[in-house]
Amino acid sequence: MSDHIDRLLARMTLEQKLGQLNMVDGSLPHNGHAALEDDIRAGRVGSVLNVYGAPTRALQRIAVAESALGIPLFFGLDVLHGHHTIFPVPLAEAGAFDPNLWRLTARAAAEEATGDGVDLTFAPMLDVSREPRWGRIVESPGEDSLVASRYAVAKVQGFQGDDLSRPDAIAATAKHFVAYGAVIAGREYASVDISERQLRETHLPPFEAAVRAGVAAIMPAFNDVAGVPMSAHRALMRKLVRETWGFGGVMLSDYNAVAELAAHGLARDAGEAAALALDAGMDIDMHALAYPRALPAAIEQGRATVAQIDAAVRRVLRLKQALGLFDEPFRRSGAAPLASARRAEITALARDAARRSIVLLRNDPAILPLARDLRRVALIGPLADAPLEMLGPWFAAAGIDGHISIREGLEAALGRGRIGFAEGVPMTADDASGIPDALALARQADVIVLALGEPKTLTGEGNSRGHIGLPGRQRDLAEALFALGKPTVTILTHGRPLALPWLFAKPGAVLATWFLGSQAGHAIADVLIGATNPGGKLAITWPVDVAQIPIHFAERATGRPGRPDEHFTSRWIDLPLEPQFPFGHGLSYTTFEISELRATPFAPRIGDAIEVEATVRNTGGTAGEETVFLFIRDPVATIARPKLELKDFVKVMLAPGEAQPVRFALTTDDLGYLDADLTPRIDPGDIDILIGPSADAKRLMRTTIKLVAPLA
Ligand code: NOJ
Repeated sequence: MSDHIDRLLARMTLEQKLGQLNMVDGSLPHNGHAALEDDIRAGRVGSVLNVYGAPTRALQRIAVAESALGIPLFFGLDVLHGHHTIFPVPLAEAGAFDPNLWRLTARAAAEEATGDGVDLTFAPMLDVSREPRWGRIVESPGEDSLVASRYAVAKVQGFQGDDLSRPDAIAATAKHFVAYGAVIAGREYASVDISERQLRETHLPPFEAAVRAGVAAIMPAFNDVAGVPMSAHRALMRKLVRETWGFGGVMLSDYNAVAELAAHGLARDAGEAAALALDAGMDIDMHALAYPRALPAAIEQGRATVAQIDAAVRRVLRLKQALGLFDEPFRRSGAAPLASARRAEITALARDAARRSIVLLRNDPAILPLARDLRRVALIGPLADAPLEMLGPWFAAAGIDGHISIREGLEAALGRGRIGFAEGVPMTADDASGIPDALALARQADVIVLALGEPKTLTGEGNSRGHIGLPGRQRDLAEALFALGKPTVTILTHGRPLALPWLFAKPGAVLATWFLGSQAGHAIADVLIGATNPGGKLAITWPVDVAQIPIHFAERATGRPGRPDEHFTSRWIDLPLEPQFPFGHGLSYTTFEISELRATPFAPRIGDAIEVEATVRNTGGTAGEETVFLFIRDPVATIARPKLELKDFVKVMLAPGEAQPVRFALTTDDLGYLDADLTPRIDPGDIDILIGPSADAKRLMRTTIKLVAPLA
């Protein structure tokens, strides 16, 4: 079959070759379908983004039946967290800390999207981020590199399965390579200036994990890293990813990013930009048209070579081959609709994923789960009856019907008669005129359920926020309702941690529900009534104030550890040192106790396996699931290491009173680090092993092992 590619390549003109490297936006009116069809017929387009369903069949027919070489197109779409059925946004789903769930939702999304003719998704997004101002943190698996690496593997496996040629397999794209989550001041598309250490310790590992899992494509990020825009970053794209990691798949640019090399100040014109990107290893130019328009002249001027183009075309054709498109170009666009039983399973999965992504931030006094004999619930707030808001900023092919609002979910769970609803205030506008009606409703009720948050339009791409509180007059509404002194449950809808210290100081319950997707309302109701015991945890540290950012558990030890009341220590004089909630925080309707931590052997030789074990007991009256995190700390090393490094996490489901052992398997490699020269190293000596329900230092149990040098 690679003969087939060789033969094709030998017959291709330069224009046809550049066509294979050209990805066109099929949704744009100015690119209207007549022009797009002509370009496909002429072999000037290799792939199309932003179309799905019937148009994929029509365009594919032109490519295979009417173009000179009959090379099939592939179709790419942003299927981030669901296609027709929307699952929780990545930052929410990461908090389920369950790789199997991550895999299952990707699999379901792949089945739905491939049925619509989509061959490749621009996901998973693997940008580790500690920057809640950045709108795209909603798409990220959170602040930790190990979590993001496991997420990468699960998503690649879920999307691609083990055979990319299957009609229900979708090629995955690891994006955005790399460190986009660290844009300066959280400002979208801004520069990234981090140390090579931080890059290698934190941002690169999830991409390496994706490559090892066989990811089909990688999308370099919009940003520069220390001055080099990623779309032209030869050292990272070509040297590291291709040569060191051995990535043989396709590098595809972000939208218009090749042309934007000029705005970065790297190129005078599209020709220079295209030559730089190609040389760095970029195979496909998304939307910029810089490759087809400018590379012919660049070749004549000696700035690019046909050999570079051939290598890129070969990779694109190999992807098409792996997707099975040469054998059956319509294998995805012609797929039979999913059977109704499978559709029902996917709906149930969406509800389950949503329930498991909810984080109970606070329940004091314990008003959740709601008492069964409640007579009247006042459901108030601009996010209460907003089904499309539940989907978050990426909603692929979700359509407008069939998504469950909080109101609909609660009505289904408790009966319409028990729910009174008032919007109170709009989501963002400066309008408090509805507050009196909301108060009147609340006065009649036994409990207030308050649905607040940020609308999806304030999150996602292009939506960095400097103030990460509630927009509009939502706080006024909340303060007025709290003043009634009634039991109040606040349900937050959001794409980032919101700095709301005033809210967390009020009595009552608060749930972080992010954007939970199509089944949001049912999932939230399940948790409110106690049909589900919440077990979600924060995949990101939750700040008290925007000024604490970046705040995360992996900060390095300093020479003067912060003490709140002591001058000349590492602290703020006007802000707490602690976050609002640590990484891993998440309450349950039951309580757990972790005990009997032991690690064996006590003195492992470098190279040995280490087993860590502890007992988790459900000490409350409800069945529930606990997540146990394992961190290490190296008290003496040749560099200052992070105060905590996450090495593993496990989940355990326990009946009331039940105890079970949890086991973690480590290797001594897990204890190593990059030394001052960034060379991997493992030192003999003490290593602390800490386990607990979150990164909260007060709740971690510790044991110490003593690494010994290998026998000579
Ligand atoms: C720009 C975004 O950065 C990227 O994540 C997305 O895949 C492309 N647009 C295509 O929609």
